[in-house]
Amino acid sequence: MSETLTIALSKGRIYKETMPLLAHAGIVPIDDPETSRKLILDTNHDDVKLVIIRATDVPTYVQYGAADVGVAGKDVLLEHGGEGLYEPLDLEIAKCRLMTAGPVGVKEPEGRLRIATKFVNCARRYYAEQGKQVEVIKLYGSMELAPLVGLADFIIDVVDTGNTLKANGLEPLEHIADISSRLVVNKASMKMKHARVKALIDKIAEAVENRR
Ligand code: ATP
Ligand code: PRP
Repeated sequence: MSETLTIALSKGRIYKETMPLLAHAGIVPIDDPETSRKLILDTNHDDVKLVIIRATDVPTYVQYGAADVGVAGKDVLLEHGGEGLYEPLDLEIAKCRLMTAGPVGVKEPEGRLRIATKFVNCARRYYAEQGKQVEVIKLYGSMELAPLVGLADFIIDVVDTGNTLKANGLEPLEHIADISSRLVVNKASMKMKHARVKALIDKIAEAVENRR
């Protein structure tokens, strides 16, 4: 049996949307992460495993070689910085936009802005490029609440339909980046397991192409 190839995925939309792409590459998990408590899932190949982790942890696992390959949102990759990773393929799934947002109709206050977000590096970079002084407040979720309770003037979050913003009296303001999920590969695995990784990239690329 050849050495194990480990693929890192997060539960939820990335798992669901990646499954058909992996199936095209002949990889089918045996357990379902939504019902199993296992964090390492077996597949129909003895030498291919899936590890199920938090979306924001995927680049870290792949960077350190704990997983050879992973699927991560571009938002998460921009925040991580991409060190130690190749990003060979846009999977064109989990599409959304990284945006600033604030209370409907409210003008930008004078002085130093307060920005609540889980994307603190993206936020600092974005406002530095605009030449604006900001205080960035790190949150781990429910960013939409921050402007409603006076914690921040604006938030930075991903927006798809805009329904979450709307339901909380907020509106999207500035577009920072178009987001979709990417296949990421550990740099050493790309060399050491080249034939297998290349074959996987090619099959997944074919599946992405077929879906267009
Ligand atoms: P974590 O569990 O680490 O906090 P998360 O809750 O953001 O992560 P998901 O909601 O599964 O994880 O999102 C995974 C990725 O899907 C995000 O990184 C983003 O690229 C994309 N995404 C997030 N929300 C949406 C959405 N509403 N529509 C489309 N894509 C989205
Ligand atoms: C994400 C994000 C927003 C929402 C945006 O949350 O943090 O809250 O989706 O999507 P929308 O513009 O379509 O409302 P989460 O990961 O909880 O997404 P979900 O609740 O849509 O699954």
